[in-house]
Amino acid sequence: MKEQLEKLKNQIEEFEIKHNEHVELFRLKFLAKKGDLNDLFEQFKTVPVEMKKELGALLNQVKQKAQQKWEEAQLEHIQNKKQKSQGNTDFTLPAENTFGGSRHPLSIIENEVIEIFKKLGFIYAEGPEIEDDWHNFSALNFPPNHPARDMQDTFFISEDIALRTHTSSVQVRLMENQKPPIRAIMPGRVYRNEAISARANCFFHQIEGIYIDEKVSFADLKQTLFYFIQELFGQDVNVRFRPSYFPFTEPSAEMDISCLLCKGKGCNVCKHTSWLEILGCGMIDPNVLKASGIDPEKYSGFAFGMGIERIAMLKYEVKDLRTYFTNDTRFISQFKGQ
Ligand code: DAH
Repeated sequence: MKEQLEKLKNQIEEFEIKHNEHVELFRLKFLAKKGDLNDLFEQFKTVPVEMKKELGALLNQVKQKAQQKWEEAQLEHIQNKKQKSQGNTDFTLPAENTFGGSRHPLSIIENEVIEIFKKLGFIYAEGPEIEDDWHNFSALNFPPNHPARDMQDTFFISEDIALRTHTSSVQVRLMENQKPPIRAIMPGRVYRNEAISARANCFFHQIEGIYIDEKVSFADLKQTLFYFIQELFGQDVNVRFRPSYFPFTEPSAEMDISCLLCKGKGCNVCKHTSWLEILGCGMIDPNVLKASGIDPEKYSGFAFGMGIERIAMLKYEVKDLRTYFTNDTRFISQFKGQ
């Protein structure tokens, strides 16, 4: 029996427990009711008394060894199993960032402009991109042979229908359908037959604004646009008005803002003039009011129109207009805003 015990001891030592199933195999072979150790305990009952002390001690020693090895293996493999089932994840760590998308820079500018005018009581209005001659040209006092009607600038669909060349067409639709006082801001996409380059595209975005009421003056126009520019670009920015010409306004002006980059010192962006052209504006021509059914004797109004791409280029210092339309998310996701 002594020999058997020594042999069992060696077997216990050599038994390799590599994974979970081996733990159970080990228990079945050595420690279970029908295992090798129990067999020896049975045999021990028949051992002569004088040998009981020595063999009993040895038997207990081997049993303890088996027990200990099994317990250690159990601990090791059960812990491993737990860790695997959790995939080593620390659930207290913050969640990984997922890319949630971002608003297009042109939409950010558009929304900022709308918000500023909303504070002044301007409503939001839209009109169709496919427009008739009346709303895009005739009602806006464009003479029949005006160059803007030319095939070079306008995408005609038929003789009378074209893709709108400006958002001023929405003014006409609004004036036809509403009675003064009218205060509205009208953003939208416009189309022109231009060669595509860093500074021009065949479509772009504008925001049109009108204010019509009794006794609206050029002073109201200046103050409204001055407030708007300071809200958009900050209090340091200055404005100036230059006389200009548009068929639908009289008098007409173009508004410049002081250069955002050089702050008046002169740089490449402002072509060393320290001013940047930002929008066109003027008092609505009485002919335009009349064409839309508004009495020019009673009402007057101002209008303005600006390009969203132009504002975005100045605000974000983007040099190539085309980058707004390639929709490369690496470019677009840099801009933050609503
Ligand atoms: N419609 C003009 C353009 O396409 C912009 C503009 C100028 C709009 C003066 C206006 C205005 O309402 O008063 O460039």
